[in-house]
Amino acid sequence: MTDEHLIYLPETDSTNVEMRRCLAHNPALPHGTTVWVDYQSAGRGQQGTCWESERGANLLFSTLLRPQAMPASCSFVLSQLVSLSLVEVLGDYLPAVTVKWPNDIYCGDKKLVGILIENDMMGADVSLSIAGIGVNVNQTVFRSSAPNPVSMAQVLGAPLDRRTLLDRLVGKLVANIDAYRPGDDEAVSERYRKILYRGSGFYPYFDVLAQESISAEVVGVEPSGRLTLRTDKGEIRHFMFKEVCYMI
Ligand code: BTN
Repeated sequence: MTDEHLIYLPETDSTNVEMRRCLAHNPALPHGTTVWVDYQSAGRGQQGTCWESERGANLLFSTLLRPQAMPASCSFVLSQLVSLSLVEVLGDYLPAVTVKWPNDIYCGDKKLVGILIENDMMGADVSLSIAGIGVNVNQTVFRSSAPNPVSMAQVLGAPLDRRTLLDRLVGKLVANIDAYRPGDDEAVSERYRKILYRGSGFYPYFDVLAQESISAEVVGVEPSGRLTLRTDKGEIRHFMFKEVCYMI
């Protein structure tokens, strides 16, 4: 990644919000532009939660993606490509790196990376996407109530150089988005299916709408992002995000 695509700040509220400010200032900001910081005072997680991260310990960044001809109906493909990119790079450093549907990156049974993607639409297409990514790199004590956190340093027993990792992650992200062509959705889904956390075998889940504990296996993930499980009684159930909990 070239340095002109990289904006470093010691601190901001949230890199996703900072990217919006950069875009307001320069609407032509190029594909791949990345804002990274040492600390976020108001880091944002999924569903309005907070993302906490010790100052200077981790990677906190947002990358601007301008996918070519990606219909809004395919926005889950974008999310899959982001997850795939992270797993492909982090899997070179760590064992058992997977994606817990829909887009948490896990190492073993613990959460290594949080992803917050915000898409803008132009007509029927995704015109731009801000991929906000928090990787637990060198933090060794977690104080927040976030479930199951783990860092790369905890697994490896040694700290890592964040900048080297950032370059690799952004490089892979941009390469995967650039390689995407309309019609690749099936192939992307297959790659995503292979790296799914608990992708085969029966595991306990909680069906939120039915308010019921179930034992089930993954059947697949639809292009919309809907997860299909088969219970141990042979029943097929479909879930959107937050409609099912993994019991870990
Ligand atoms: C989650 O809840 O799992 C998503 C967390 C996403 C955190 C990252 S850190 C960089 C970027 N800026 C934010 O405010 N959030 C994302």
